[in-house]
Amino acid sequence: MTVIDQVYQDDNAQVPAGHPRILALANQKGGVGKTTTAINLGTALAAIGERVLIVDLDPQGNASTGLGIDRRNRSCSTYDVLVGEASLRESVVATAVPRLHIAPSTMDLSGLELELGTTPGRAFRLRDAIAALNNNVSPDNDYTYVLIDCPPSLNLLTVNAMAASDAILVPLQCEFFALEGLSQLLSTVEQVRSTLNPNLSIHGIVLTMFDSRNNLSNQVVADVRQFMGAKVYKTMIPRNVRISEAPSYGKPVLVYDLKCVGSEAYLKLATEVIQRERELRAS
Ligand SMILES: Nc1ncnc2c1ncn2[C@@H]1O[C@H](COP(=O)(O)OP(=O)(O)O)[C@@H](O)[C@H]1O
Ligand SMILES: [Mg+2]
Repeated sequence: MTVIDQVYQDDNAQVPAGHPRILALANQKGGVGKTTTAINLGTALAAIGERVLIVDLDPQGNASTGLGIDRRNRSCSTYDVLVGEASLRESVVATAVPRLHIAPSTMDLSGLELELGTTPGRAFRLRDAIAALNNNVSPDNDYTYVLIDCPPSLNLLTVNAMAASDAILVPLQCEFFALEGLSQLLSTVEQVRSTLNPNLSIHGIVLTMFDSRNNLSNQVVADVRQFMGAKVYKTMIPRNVRISEAPSYGKPVLVYDLKCVGSEAYLKLATEVIQRERELRAS
C-alpha cells in the first residue's frame, strides 16, 4: 500500500472557492531545480505584480535560506502549521522582495510523518491551512499565488502539497534519466488525482540546467518535448553560474544579477505561467 492509499481512507472535503492559485514544485528527484525555481519564479511573479507566498515544505529549508531568512526568524514554521499549532498566516515572513513572502521550514518537518501517524485527514493539513490563508484580509493583502517547494521524495509532505494544489509544476533537469523519473512522477500525480485531489493537473514541465553546447542536453529536450508536447514550457532555464551563486548571498538571482541569462529566463517563465493561467481560466 502506498502512502497515498493509506491517507485516502480519510475524509475528502471540498476546497472553498476564492483561493489563490496553488502550484507545487514537485519532482521526487533531488537537485533538479525545484527550490531554485520556487525562489526565482516566485520573485519574477512578484516583480510582475502578483502577491506570492512560497511555502517551504522541505526540512532542508533551502528556499528559506536562499531567500535570506535567518534561522532566528523561523520560530514559527511550516512544521507548526502542519501540526496545527499555528495558522499559515502566523508563519509568514516577508522577504527583501516586495510582494514575496515565505512560510519558512525547519528540520522539525522531517519528523512530521511519524508524529502524525495515522491521524485522519493528515494528507489535508496543508490544503486546509491554505484555505484559511486569505480569510479576513483586505483584497490588496491577499495572495494571488502560492508556490509550494516540495522535498525530493514522495512522502507525506509531498502528498500534502499535491492534495493542496491546483496544479504541479515539474522542474526537469536536462540529463540522461530525465524521462524515466518523469513517468514515475506522472503516475503519482495520476494516483493523487484518482484519490485525494481530482482537480490536480500538470501545469507544465520546465527544463532546467539546459546547456545548448551539450548534445545530451539537446537530445533530452527533444525527447521530453516529443513525449509531453505542449505541457513543456517554451522557456528553458539555462545552466548559469549566477543562478547557483545567488542563494549563498540569500538573494534570488533576479536581485543578485538582474541582467544575467538566468534572471531573463525566470522572467520569461513567469510570463508564460501567467499566460497559461489566463488560458486555463478562459477555458
Ligand atoms: N539553472 C541553473 N544553473 C546552475 N545551477 C543551478 C541551476 N538551477 C539549479 N542550480 C543549482 O543546482 C543545485 C540544485 O538545485 P535546487 O533548486 O536546490 O534543486 P532541488 O530543490 O530540486 O533539490 C543548487 O546548488 C542550485 O544552485
Ligand atoms: Mg529543494
